[in-house]
Amino acid sequence: VLGASSTVRCEASMYKQTVETVDLDWDNLEFALLPTDYMYMMKCCQNGTFSKGELLRYGPLELSPSSGVLHYGQGLFEGLKAYRKEDGSILLFRPQENALRMRIGADRMCMPSPTIDQFVDAIKLTVLANKRWVPPTGKGSLYIRPLLIGSGAVLGVSPAPEYTFLVFVSPVGNYFKEGLAPINLIVENEYHRASPGGTGGVKTIGNYASVLRALKKAKENGYSDVLYLDCIHKKYLEEVSSCNIFVVKNKVISTPEVNGTILPGITRKSIIDVARGQGYQVEECPVSVEELLDADEVFCTGTAVVVAPVGSITYLERRQGRVWEQRSWGRVSTTLFFTYETTDGPFRGQDGVDNAV
Ligand code: COI
Repeated sequence: VLGASSTVRCEASMYKQTVETVDLDWDNLEFALLPTDYMYMMKCCQNGTFSKGELLRYGPLELSPSSGVLHYGQGLFEGLKAYRKEDGSILLFRPQENALRMRIGADRMCMPSPTIDQFVDAIKLTVLANKRWVPPTGKGSLYIRPLLIGSGAVLGVSPAPEYTFLVFVSPVGNYFKEGLAPINLIVENEYHRASPGGTGGVKTIGNYASVLRALKKAKENGYSDVLYLDCIHKKYLEEVSSCNIFVVKNKVISTPEVNGTILPGITRKSIIDVARGQGYQVEECPVSVEELLDADEVFCTGTAVVVAPVGSITYLERRQGRVWEQRSWGRVSTTLFFTYETTDGPFRGQDGVDNAV
């Protein structure tokens, strides 16, 4: 797919601007890694302060076989996106929110973390260094993956003596193969994603390892993703492997409250704001599986997923479930998605990258 540099002309209603991009099949981007030109790296030793980082050519890392992250899972990641505006400039969506979430997660995982300014500067530098990989307007986005790992060597269980903060990027399209069509979820009844007092509320790498088994089985059976229930009552919704969940009933929107076992999604928070701004009542509260099956509409939110309507829920191995008729899925979520995309996503709460250098 990759080739030499090409030029894409982005047409805006007011003017035209020529934007240099790599030669990619921009119409068929998937959510899959396309290695780009540069990554960013910054290290920190026991004093808890990160030294000045640098851009490096994208490539393999040198890591001790005894690194804390490899043995004891001391690692966190973030996900955010850069969008190309019609005038060719590049916008980041609320990078400070990701910086703050990484700091909260790092505290839980006994790791030092970059300051908000260090984090945002690193993101801007990495995006600018890879700007020819930012898709043309409307063709996708540049997914940015910041990573904080215990890179120092340990043997006994303890925090690592050295930490590495990395940022790399990849152009991406839709997360689900369904594209913008509704996804099919299965409710997981055996495995749980998180437990009270655990790390489900932070973006630690182990949270994603623990969902792989249920997710693999679900995909083999044709589902898009897995919805997890709380581990105590096996009754209340938590989140989907890759995103948060919302249900709509009689025009009231409900989503599980952030109580330590679900991730405080930045898209979740933005969609709550957009929905309230449009006059919807939004409740952050326990949501039972019965309420889910009785909902008028269900949808998911996440950085990678953005806003995905749900077309069917399978609960207890097809014995109980719900399929929404085409006229009911996506009614509220499509409105919220378009408001988010046009006023909130790339164009509100924005932070241009061009002031980074
Ligand atoms: C994101 O939406 O950025 C995430 O980190 C979820 C991941 C499973 C792709």
